[in-house]
Amino acid sequence: MLANVFGYCLEDYVEVIRILEDAEGLAGYELNISCPNVKKGGMQFGGDPTQVAEVVGAARRAAARRPLWVKLSPLVADIGLIARVAQDSGADALTIANTYPAMAIDLRSLKSRLGNLTGGLSGPAIRPITLRLVWEAKKAVSIPIVGLGGIETVEDVLEYLSVGASAVQVGTASFADPRASEHLASTLTNALVRLKVSSISDIQAKFASKNG
Ligand SMILES: Cc1cc2nc3c(=O)[nH]c(=O)nc-3n(C[C@H](O)[C@H](O)[C@H](O)COP(=O)(O)O)c2cc1C
Repeated sequence: MLANVFGYCLEDYVEVIRILEDAEGLAGYELNISCPNVKKGGMQFGGDPTQVAEVVGAARRAAARRPLWVKLSPLVADIGLIARVAQDSGADALTIANTYPAMAIDLRSLKSRLGNLTGGLSGPAIRPITLRLVWEAKKAVSIPIVGLGGIETVEDVLEYLSVGASAVQVGTASFADPRASEHLASTLTNALVRLKVSSISDIQAKFASKNG
């Protein structure tokens, strides 16, 4: 279990980690510098390389006991640059990516369906877009990447692994079926056998060799 750490300013992130350092039962921290659902903080950090360096560096110094993952925003000009800055500032792994800022409207009332007017789009619609981000980031860093965005089937998992993810997370599909991750994990080995690949690194090597 990892704690997803969020803040409205740099000091918030440091303070949350400082408090959690005394807690037991956590495997690590996932620094959320990419939340599109708040008016300040969150995504503002994730888009600016200088701020990424500052917040990740400060979190790294505070997180003495545990690994630090950094969850990136998908809405950046150069994901490779942001990924490299996070790595160089002390991230042990990257989670790619958070939701995409979006809108949805109820036409009968002409009101936004979202409490904050805009909000984060998740689910199958974002999978091809986030997949490319994982592929681009993989070329820029050496630390592991955890892919997520729209995963529903074991084939979706394989796509993320092919482009370079070392592991995946399942968000929206877990709301429909809380056992979605369990199901995907139990079918993964057979899916790899069907593709005639022996491991995650094998599928990545094959994908890279066939796609330059
Ligand atoms: C209802 C909801 C709540 C979320 N809350 C968080 C959060 O607190 N922290 C975070 O980093 N990401 C949060 N996310 C983003 C997801 O972790 C994930 O990055 C995103 O939804 C894409 O994956 P998916 O398509 O599998 O849902 C949330 C997503 C949803 C739909």
